[in-house]
Amino acid sequence: MIGVVQLHDPDHRDFGSDNYAGVHPAVLTALAEANGGHQRGYGDDVYSARLAQVLREHFGAQAVGYPVFNGTGANVVALSAMTPRWGSVVVPSSAHVHTDEAGAPERMAGLKLLTVEAPDGRLTPDLVASVTAGGHDVHFPQPSVVAVAQATELGTVYTPDQLGALAEQAHGLGLRLYVDGARLANAAAHLGLPLRAFTTDVGVDVVGLGGTKNGLMFGEVVVVLDPGAVDGLPYVRKMSAQLASKSRFAAAQLLALYDGDLWLDSARHANAMARRLAAGLAEVPGARLVHEVQANAVFAALPAATVARLRERWAFYDWTPDGSQVRLMCAWDTTEQDVADLLAVAREG
Ligand SMILES: Cc1ncc(COP(=O)(O)O)c(C=O)c1O
Repeated sequence: MIGVVQLHDPDHRDFGSDNYAGVHPAVLTALAEANGGHQRGYGDDVYSARLAQVLREHFGAQAVGYPVFNGTGANVVALSAMTPRWGSVVVPSSAHVHTDEAGAPERMAGLKLLTVEAPDGRLTPDLVASVTAGGHDVHFPQPSVVAVAQATELGTVYTPDQLGALAEQAHGLGLRLYVDGARLANAAAHLGLPLRAFTTDVGVDVVGLGGTKNGLMFGEVVVVLDPGAVDGLPYVRKMSAQLASKSRFAAAQLLALYDGDLWLDSARHANAMARRLAAGLAEVPGARLVHEVQANAVFAALPAATVARLRERWAFYDWTPDGSQVRLMCAWDTTEQDVADLLAVAREG
């Protein structure tokens, strides 16, 4: 190592976010292997070409992928390219695009979000209808896209039928369906289905396919499943500052994940750790699980003293302003021992 000091304990893992985890060793190896020599930039390299092929294998022959740096970028680029200037995007009020992107969809893409309360993070056709019905005169922000996250921000997962019903409704109304798949792999692991079975095959138009939360240093892909759903996406990506010049390194990372089973193995592991954590917390006196644990997030209501004890050793998010509900997130590198250690402290007292 050249002049780099280890500033943290490499054996300590928190439960704050799947983003807190490091880079999977296979991804670091892939980066090293892609290094050396020259390759053209801006997507015109052999790694990007192979990635295009791999994405077609996952999502079908129509699929075209556009790597971007991060999940916010994927959402902004996709929604910009899907929404006309006068359009609006229907989202659950818990949507990351609404609560956690500093207004990027509004400020960068210039589009309006129409939020709907969705108690478990999942939109339904009835909830969508509550904003689309009767609102189509010139005064109303014209709904153009329905945007959902799979898995949702509350750790729940849509079934293929649920997404299919949203797609059918959207298309019937002349809208498009966008899936923020920052955790699409965790959803696939939960459903036990290939990626296309709950995207392409049920009528999803565009997916933001995650990478960062599943072991990359950075990188997601906007995957267009129906070319008619977007306009000018390559230009939108560039003008949104989401086109990597050294594109081979974005593609090489994504290949390490998706050209093989690493994406699924890592997501299965993270989900399994969340299930183990949830099962243990459910036994803690005074504790209650708030949402179904279907992906890699555990939402729990815990006694204040328990939260305070856990906080001394681990970082995690308060999910309610009073701190009575917390979010504990598992990652590809969370170990059974990490879970056991946290549960042991949770059971004390
Ligand atoms: C559902 C969802 N979408 C998108 C993102 C955005 O990711 P990033 O922080 O890489 O912009 C996140 C990150 O937490 C997320 O949870």
